[in-house]
Amino acid sequence: MTDPQIMLTERVQQALAAAFGPEHSDADPLIRPSQFADFQANVAMSLGKRLRRAPREVATELAAQLVDFPGTVEVSGPGFLNITLDDSWIAGQAQAQLGDPLNGVVQGEPQRVVIDYSAPNAAKEMHVGHLRSTVVGDALARTHEHLGNTVIRQNHLGDWGTPFGMLVEHLVDIGEQTAVAQLEAGQGTEYYQAARVKFDNDEAFKARSRSRVTTLQSEDPETIRLWHVFMNATIAYFDKIYAQLQVTLTDADIAGESKYNPWLEQVCNDLEAAGIAVISDGALCVFPPGFTGADDQPLPLIIRKSDGGYGYATTDLAAIRYRVDELKADRSLYVVGADQALHFRMVFATAKMAGWLPDSVSFEHVQIGMVQGKDGKRFKTRSGESVKLSSLLDEAVERAYEKIADKGYSPELRAEISEAVGIGAVKYADLSVSHDSEYIFDFDRMIAFSGNTGGYMQYATARIRSIFRNGGIDVDNVNGPVLLGEPAERALALHLLGFGTVVAQVAELSEPHRLCAFLYETASLFSTFYEECPVLKSEGLIKASRLALCALTLRTLETGLSLLGVPVPERM
Ligand code: ARG
Repeated sequence: MTDPQIMLTERVQQALAAAFGPEHSDADPLIRPSQFADFQANVAMSLGKRLRRAPREVATELAAQLVDFPGTVEVSGPGFLNITLDDSWIAGQAQAQLGDPLNGVVQGEPQRVVIDYSAPNAAKEMHVGHLRSTVVGDALARTHEHLGNTVIRQNHLGDWGTPFGMLVEHLVDIGEQTAVAQLEAGQGTEYYQAARVKFDNDEAFKARSRSRVTTLQSEDPETIRLWHVFMNATIAYFDKIYAQLQVTLTDADIAGESKYNPWLEQVCNDLEAAGIAVISDGALCVFPPGFTGADDQPLPLIIRKSDGGYGYATTDLAAIRYRVDELKADRSLYVVGADQALHFRMVFATAKMAGWLPDSVSFEHVQIGMVQGKDGKRFKTRSGESVKLSSLLDEAVERAYEKIADKGYSPELRAEISEAVGIGAVKYADLSVSHDSEYIFDFDRMIAFSGNTGGYMQYATARIRSIFRNGGIDVDNVNGPVLLGEPAERALALHLLGFGTVVAQVAELSEPHRLCAFLYETASLFSTFYEECPVLKSEGLIKASRLALCALTLRTLETGLSLLGVPVPERM
């Protein structure tokens, strides 16, 4: 089956070439949904200007060439083409989509896509920014896999560097057992703060921490063992959150900063030997062209500090080489806070200068906008601390539990549904706005069952499931044929044909919010259809067709939500 917008784009391009010459065969005909017809093609407006001819005339000639397509075309206004598709074509496409296990998704040449997401720091609390990266990255990973790509998840944990001297030393002080219990319980912040206070006030501790950094860097076995104890307990807490969130990340995807430690010296040496890195104020720096600071001075990317230590940028340069050379990435996505945009631009520029980043490989920063509190500032607890993610998720589930209080479910079922609804609400809220825009974390809004929310989408799915349950009909045995009589049937069917295209766009542009918008429209159109077209009370071919539309809608919503990683309860 074909997305109507794609089919029309091709047909109008053929008509453009036939009417105005082959050089127009790949012009964008600007097909957009229209309120006066199914679609509008606006290309005659700009083409008229270029050909110095009246757009309406251009449109008329174009329309005359637009033959042999399943619909009708009309010239309107100053030169728009209003296009209406034949019902029989829409019905036939919907029927084909029903028979397609991929529901209209087209798998292309498989790509190797590295997705760097989540990446919390062991020495600090995982915060809502990491939550959003985790949720968006996971949706992208699921979508790419659905498109047949090979996804390599990389959880670039902050697990290395100077603070770890202090963190390991604190572990020695309080004892391994106590430390592990505290870290696994998600009290990383408290742990970190306790170590910090000692570091700032206790000279002996400070000295011990410093020498611990040295033994860590030289990979002294006992220090490495202690570091592992610390890291494993921390990862156990992260894993609890991943499980709660129902994301696909596993421990096998961990590729933290420490992984690149063995290659950092080489990165610096190679850049220095190539004349790309130079010593400036004792530090080894790259000055990629085009980056200047406030005073118009060239901006340095520091790759070795004056004390000999390596930093975040060095690690990322080593990671680029690894992703290109070892992981054989075609694309590498960095789902990371927008505040790191400059870092990635400079790191990518440096890697390009060094020849480590061939043009055939696309490295992209998928910027994550800040999650704000209702006050418009970075989301914090009332007392100003960063919010503990596990309690945040617990609260979402509790609120969902209250919300479905009056439905008369057994406690077990109610708990199961609230889990899906609460977690789904938080995830959907992260996904439904474009990833780079800031948004305000608001429980009341995200947990609502109306509007573009997870709850509304889950509810729509449950409602369709209940139609099949009430009718005693197996949804997998529904096969039409699709007939389009009522306008609401037609509108729903036409919309559903866009699923494959929107999934492809999510992957290409790294924009899951497009799928949310599509699903929201799906649920709304279904709702109108269901109000206007009785399903179980209809009969014969009409009933068969309406059941087919229900089944197609259900599969579209369920597939879409699974690509987003939003759980779908069986009933609600
Ligand atoms: N740990 C970093 C942070 O919390 C994010 C790491 C992102 N990935 C990367 N390759 N730099 O800010």
